[in-house]
Amino acid sequence: MSGFNSLQYFCAISPIDVVIDAFINEEQKKMLSTSDDHCAWSIRSQGRFATLMASRSENIVDGKEIDWSTIQFVPSERYVRKLVMRYTTRLELQGREVEDDNLASLICFLSRSRISNLPDPTSHCNATYFVPLSTSYCQCEQNDDELQLTIRIYPQHNDVGVAKVWEAGAALAEYIIHNRTIIKGRNVVELGAGVGLTGLVAAAFGAKSIHMTDYTDATLENLSHNVTINESWLRNRGVDPSTVNVGQLEWGEHSESSRDISTISALQNADIMIAADVVYAVECIPDLVSTVYKFLLTGYNKLALFATTHRNMTTFSLFETELEKKRIARDYVPQDSLPLVLPCYFNQPRTDVRICIMKQNEK
Ligand SMILES: C[S@@+](CC[C@H](N)C(=O)[O-])C[C@H]1O[C@@H](n2cnc3c(N)ncnc32)[C@H](O)[C@@H]1O
Repeated sequence: MSGFNSLQYFCAISPIDVVIDAFINEEQKKMLSTSDDHCAWSIRSQGRFATLMASRSENIVDGKEIDWSTIQFVPSERYVRKLVMRYTTRLELQGREVEDDNLASLICFLSRSRISNLPDPTSHCNATYFVPLSTSYCQCEQNDDELQLTIRIYPQHNDVGVAKVWEAGAALAEYIIHNRTIIKGRNVVELGAGVGLTGLVAAAFGAKSIHMTDYTDATLENLSHNVTINESWLRNRGVDPSTVNVGQLEWGEHSESSRDISTISALQNADIMIAADVVYAVECIPDLVSTVYKFLLTGYNKLALFATTHRNMTTFSLFETELEKKRIARDYVPQDSLPLVLPCYFNQPRTDVRICIMKQNEK
């Protein structure tokens, strides 16, 4: 960060947390160099932050003139909105409130402007992924259209299950490609399958069957669509598409009555449960762990293979506590042995994804 200030980071459209950290660092330096009683979150700093964010239309920030025409990547309104919202969330975490009028007005303005700029939840596209036939694939395979897995996504939908292939989903698919013995010849059930990339890769790399589950209508409809459009991709790999199925499953015992029959029997027959990026909402953790627990208890040698993205340590600690309560043993695959990820757009650093193998402790 040395040599750069928050304005320069903002103009370069750096990751949101980098801009906010740079801003806070600058404010802290000012605090040390002046006798003024102001800290990184004081009214005065909030005002400076508001000015910086509003600077796209103002041209002068902190007495310095900005020539926006010379800046290649001008921050979009969406980016500015996210920065302001993230800044106010951090304020709240510090137990502080929005006290500066300019910042309050900027928040109101950005919230209003959103109404005229609503994302279109129906816009969708197909993402294609080159999935090698083996880990020793040759470069020429990449041009082979038959090796392209196609995944429909709805990037602007508010349902996380259709929005994208999540980092952990791609990482788990890669893990399976490189460690296929773990699923070879096994019946697999997947929780929170999302757009289906991980489950389809598991099918292509040796699973005897896969039953992909999720809970919202939009996700289940899209999941079935993605299975259908990849039927010939599966056949080309010697997989009978009838071994790849989709079913409804909401985590937790309370939802048992709403589970579909195919999912109940898949849970009984499966040898291994897989899931990627399902540890993210505190309120769902007890239900999620109870689903894993019940699955592991239904037979000998059952395993659960999860890829988790570490965003929020509170969520993750709760996950660990619930596993401990149920005496579920887990092993984390060391970071340095994780394979490369399928080309995806990653917001989350790769090192934040961990692969975890769980089984029931002997009583
Ligand atoms: C972050 S997405 C991950 C999707 C996919 N596994 C991937 O990695 O790309 C989390 C998934 O969990 C599903 N999910 C969230 N809460 C659930 C619940 N209570 N029961 C079942 N599925 C749930 C969502 O619909 C979504 O598909």
